[in-house]
Amino acid sequence: MTYQFTLESGITVDSTRPEHAAALEELQRTVFPTLADGERFKREHYLKHLELFPEGQFVALDGERVVGMTSTIRCDFDFESPAHRFSDIIQGGWLTSHEPDGAWLYGADMGTHPDYRRRGIARGLYAARQWTVRRFELRGQVMVGMLRGYGDVKSEMSADAYYESLLRKERSDPTISAQLSVGFEPLGLVPDYLNDPVCDNYGVLMVLSPDKDV
Ligand SMILES: CC(C)(COP(=O)(O)OP(=O)(O)OC[C@H]1O[C@@H](n2cnc3c(N)ncnc32)[C@H](O)[C@@H]1OP(=O)(O)O)[C@@H](O)C(=O)NCCC(=O)NCCS
Repeated sequence: MTYQFTLESGITVDSTRPEHAAALEELQRTVFPTLADGERFKREHYLKHLELFPEGQFVALDGERVVGMTSTIRCDFDFESPAHRFSDIIQGGWLTSHEPDGAWLYGADMGTHPDYRRRGIARGLYAARQWTVRRFELRGQVMVGMLRGYGDVKSEMSADAYYESLLRKERSDPTISAQLSVGFEPLGLVPDYLNDPVCDNYGVLMVLSPDKDV
């Protein structure tokens, strides 16, 4: 069973298919330009994700052009020991940490092409993930959002102070604020999550309940 939903803008959110893999590799470079290359998915990784867990992979399409993407796995996330790294999840890009009976949908990435941002594409992709959560009766979505605006101000304030100011809505972060708008609940900072100076390697652990209508 595949997913398809057309947004008001005419962009379609679709289940990923093998013919999208090369465009997805290119979109990774565009969306995550400062991320360590070893932490970006490539064409062959996308083909493997489709073998492992086809119901968890989505694209946003403008006609045939791939302009948005998300990759997920299922896993039994341990909220008592939340410290972990992006590399533990992606396993060199292959997503072999996927547990077919896992209770949570873990979001390994999310991205919209810079020319298409603020038009509801990420919201549409999170809604597609929510379809998977409901279909398999999972406990919800879990992910670590990048603290994308922190790298620019890290000499002025600690990551804790930056995070607290986001929660108090005194400042906005281009990634975390988008995820809060969609309905994610923040659970805490995850230091040393990935290799990207834009967020000084910090992420925020977040969950989205299955009842939330994105
Ligand atoms: C974060 C990202 C995926 C958002 O994609 P998008 O398609 O522009 O998001 P949407 O248009 O669906 O917006 C969803 C919500 O977030 C809000 N939002 C989006 N970008 C935002 C920003 N820069 N600052 C504050 N809020 C923002 C929108 O207003 C919207 O909320 P609303 O419906 O209540 O108004 C996109 O900016 C991106 O690809 N960033 C780079 C990669 C990245 O950080 N990925 C996430 C890794 S964890």
